[in-house]
Amino acid sequence: MDIPAADIQRIVDRYLRSEASASMVVMELVQLTEDTAAIARALPMLAGEPARLRELAGHLAENEAGCRTIVRMIRQRLDAPEVAGDAEEGIARSRKLFDASVAQSEESSVALYSLGSAELLAAATDEVIGVLEDWGVLGPRRDALEIGCGIGRLMVPLCSRVRSVVGTDVSSGMIAAATRRLEGCSNASVQLTTGRDLSEFGSASMDLVYSVDTFPYLVLSGQALVERHFREVRRVLRPEGDFVLFNYAYGRSREDANDEVLAHAHGVELQVIRADESPFRMWNGIGWLLRRG
Ligand SMILES: C[S@@+](CC[C@H](N)C(=O)[O-])C[C@H]1O[C@@H](n2cnc3c(N)ncnc32)[C@H](O)[C@@H]1O
Repeated sequence: MDIPAADIQRIVDRYLRSEASASMVVMELVQLTEDTAAIARALPMLAGEPARLRELAGHLAENEAGCRTIVRMIRQRLDAPEVAGDAEEGIARSRKLFDASVAQSEESSVALYSLGSAELLAAATDEVIGVLEDWGVLGPRRDALEIGCGIGRLMVPLCSRVRSVVGTDVSSGMIAAATRRLEGCSNASVQLTTGRDLSEFGSASMDLVYSVDTFPYLVLSGQALVERHFREVRRVLRPEGDFVLFNYAYGRSREDANDEVLAHAHGVELQVIRADESPFRMWNGIGWLLRRG
């Protein structure tokens, strides 16, 4: 594939300006080129501080095997979910996509920017947990629910910071991986869900509902599913309970995504405590904190 150097330079410039982490930039370069050797050849030829370009090349070299797995995942279209005709089709697609994806690499299946590395994923996970702590939503008397828990990487560190945590997911491959990872966490459990709603959970049973990089798949399945989940989140939250949403949609402008989240929040009478924030260094996730009054 012949990739214009200008496209590579544009992505790398975000690293050089410290606007994106090395992992995010390497992931984007892999998505653009689908060729790790071509990236390694291109990097030394780019404009920019040579030491910073060498850092990026080093990051690629250290994670080359994981990047090659990502190329295989991209070629199977596992990184590019499409808009579905309706909710049922969208849920079925997500299930298939994530079953296939977790079979290739547990780390990359939940965060492509981990480049398949357990260490990079752990560092990114620590950042998310740090933000949840900063936002004041954790505590030993809080019961938490994760919508779309994947391999349970967030639930593992969370189980010592809340009274209980339960994760749901539509993918049985993800649930199997999460079950393994959560073996030592007696206050954590996972449930395979239909993906349609939160009917497994009682009204006013949770102090925290959080969802990391899962709503984009609901959005691809149509607004009816998104609206139903906002109603369901409101229903399962106790008074003063929090809903943390990290990433709402892919391929929307920030302004549009924020407008949609705020409209959904107002529709179900959730208070907006934080909106449209970018609190991470490693990951480009955008966050909202909504609260039931
Ligand atoms: C990108 S992964 C993120 C996993 C996890 N939140 C994390 O950050 O490690 C998205 C997850 O959402 C799950 N998912 C997609 N649609 C869902 C739905 N309607 N209900 C529950 N889980 C869903 C997928 O199976 C997948 O495990």
